[in-house]
This record gives sequence, C-alpha cells and structure tokens, in this order.
Amino acid sequence: MKKVIQKIEEEFVGRFGDEYKLIQSPGRVNLIGEHTDYNDGFVLPAAVEKSIVLAIHPNGTNVCHFYAADMEESYETDISGDIRKSDMGWPNYLLGVVDELRKHGYEVGGFDCVFGGNVPIGAGMSSSAALEGGVLFGLAELNGWDIPPVEMAKIAQKAENEFVGVQCGIMDQFASLNGKEGYALKLDCRSLDYEYFPFNRDDIQIVLCDTQVRRELASSEYNVRRQQCEQGVEILQQWDPEIESLRDVELSLLFQHEDDIDPTIFKRCKYVVEENKRVIQACNDLRQGAMDSFGQRMYQSHAGLRHEYEVSCEELDVLVDIARDLQGVFGARMMGGGFGGCTINLVREAYVDSFETQIQEKYQQKMDKQIKIYRTKVSSGTHLISDQKVTSS
Ligand code: GLA
Repeated sequence: MKKVIQKIEEEFVGRFGDEYKLIQSPGRVNLIGEHTDYNDGFVLPAAVEKSIVLAIHPNGTNVCHFYAADMEESYETDISGDIRKSDMGWPNYLLGVVDELRKHGYEVGGFDCVFGGNVPIGAGMSSSAALEGGVLFGLAELNGWDIPPVEMAKIAQKAENEFVGVQCGIMDQFASLNGKEGYALKLDCRSLDYEYFPFNRDDIQIVLCDTQVRRELASSEYNVRRQQCEQGVEILQQWDPEIESLRDVELSLLFQHEDDIDPTIFKRCKYVVEENKRVIQACNDLRQGAMDSFGQRMYQSHAGLRHEYEVSCEELDVLVDIARDLQGVFGARMMGGGFGGCTINLVREAYVDSFETQIQEKYQQKMDKQIKIYRTKVSSGTHLISDQKVTSS
C-alpha cells in the first residue's frame, strides 16, 4: 500500500498543493450470503487490504477537480447548481456522493481529489463502493460532520442507486466503510444491526481467483433477479400476508406451494431462503472454529448460485470444481453479483503456494486461458491515514 499512498500524495501535491487529508477505503470480500442483501437478509463480508487511497481538500470555490491516478484522467465540474452526470463514468461515484449529501442537508462546496489504488475493477471486490465510501468519509472529515456508520453506508448506497443508477444492495458500501481488521462483519440487511466475528486465523488465507471475465449481462440480470424475488414475495403473500420479503419466508411454506409457483421463481426463492440460513449457520461455525463445516457451506452457496439463482458462469464453475479437489482448501464459491469476477477460496496457509500453482495449471488446461490470483487479508474499513500538512517528501 505504501507505493499507492506515495503516488497519490505526489499527484495531489503536484496538482493542488501540499494540504490534504489522506483516506484509505478498502474493497471487500464476501465470505457467504450472496444476493441476500436486497432481500432484507444476512451477509458476511469483510473489508480487505486491497484499497483505494484518496487525497482530498476543499478549494473554496464551487468547482470540483478530480484526478483518477490509475487512469490518468482528470475531470472538473461546477457544482453550484444541479449536479449533472458525467459520460466518463468514474466521476459519477464522487458526484453521486456530493448529490446525496446535499439531499441529506449537508452543504458541500468545491474540493480537489486525487485517488487510485489496487482494488481490481469489475472483479466483484467493490471498487466502486470503496470510492464512494472514501469520498464520503473524506468530505465528512473535512467538514467535521459526525455521520453515524449506518447512515454513512446508506448515503453511499443511495449515491450508487440514484446517481450512478445501479440498483445494488447495501452490503458493499457497508462492508467497505465499517469493516474491522481481523473480523468478518455479519450484517442484518433489514435492521442494519451488525456484529463482528473474529476472522484472523494465521493458518488460513483468503485467496481470490479472478476469471477476468467482465460481462455487461451482469447488471441487467442483477435487476431481473431482484424483480424475480419481488414476484416471489407477491405470490407468497397470498398464503401469508405477513411476508414482506424473502427474509420472512420459511422453506416449508415454499415447498407447500411448489406446484403453484412458476418453477424459475421457485428456484430463485429457494436459493435466497437457504442462503440466509447458511449465513446464520456459517456464523455459528466461525464461533466454534469449525472451518470444515464453514467451507462446506461455501460450496453449497456456490451450487445454489449456479443451479438455482443462475448467476454463475463456466469460468467460475470450473474454478470452484478445481478448488474442491485440491489439498488444503476449506471451501470455495463465486463472489459478488456473478457472471464473472472472482471466486473466493479459503485455503490452509501451508497449502497456498501449491493451491495457486495447481489451480492456474488446471484452469489453463481446461479453459485455455489464465486467471489472476490475489491473496488478501481481512482489514480495516474506510479510515483516515493522515491529515497533516505535508512539509517535504
Ligand atoms: C453486488 C451488489 C451487492 C450484492 C451482491 C450480491 O455486489 O453490489 O449489493 O447484492 O452483488 O450478493
């Protein structure tokens, strides 16, 4: 991370001067609980050390200047009136936060911001949530706003939903902002109550295998899944009007009415109901240190995502199938929205090297292409690195 920090500081000083706050905002992994967040369910993500670093400072005008150091692209806009979306894409993550803060009654003036980092883009590690959370945290720091953690996550999610226009749930923003070093975060996406579970075993490594597959399909299919879940809820309400979301559905009720429900909707609902249960059980596994059992639930989660929720793809399935047969692997599953991106693998430390060599080799044999592999550790949520005026460097 040191190199990233140095680069961002240098770029900021070169462009905007030597006074700024430096924020680190992490990507996230999700251990288990996929496509449950927008169903009012449970998730078990964790912030990781791969992060975006932002240098940020107010400039006393109504103009914002942004510089994306990795893309070497600049953007500037006047924010005195309505904030307009940019065709460039990335500025919208920052502008969306400004827009949402204003809607919440916070007065945001012009500011300068340089950012960059090592969260792989489109890999399902939530680089966009890291950027939104980072700029939000930075603006709160600059202005002395004391925004509670849950509120921060809601604002960042809304920025993505309403300004960027992606209908994501709250998991990514929540995990990035509120993660804690050495802990996974169990979040109840209905009440937004959360609990930290120790996840700092030296003998286990999180290894991410990036298919490098990025499909446009991901966002349209994501919205289709959301609608299918809503349809399921509407149907199930006939038999139990208390049901507000799939979170409230018992498997027994679902099976009782299997013949009355469209088979696709049935599969989607069954997956979500079971995945919610798995998160709770996986948390019990963590409490008891039962990592074999935890790993089995990851495989079950993947099977559900593959066959019932149908958001996986061949590359992800091949990686999980290979991992299952390798020594030292507790569990593996696709991670995030699906249709590409990464698998998450929990691997016994002593086997990590051989895991990486073998999965790369076997994948190459089967798919005739390569994956990227990242080892990562569970790390802190969005935080201030420093806020001193830089005197020399
Ligand atoms: C994406 C969304 C999250 C969540 C996952 C699936 O990452 O941004 O809100 O819905 O997909 O679990």
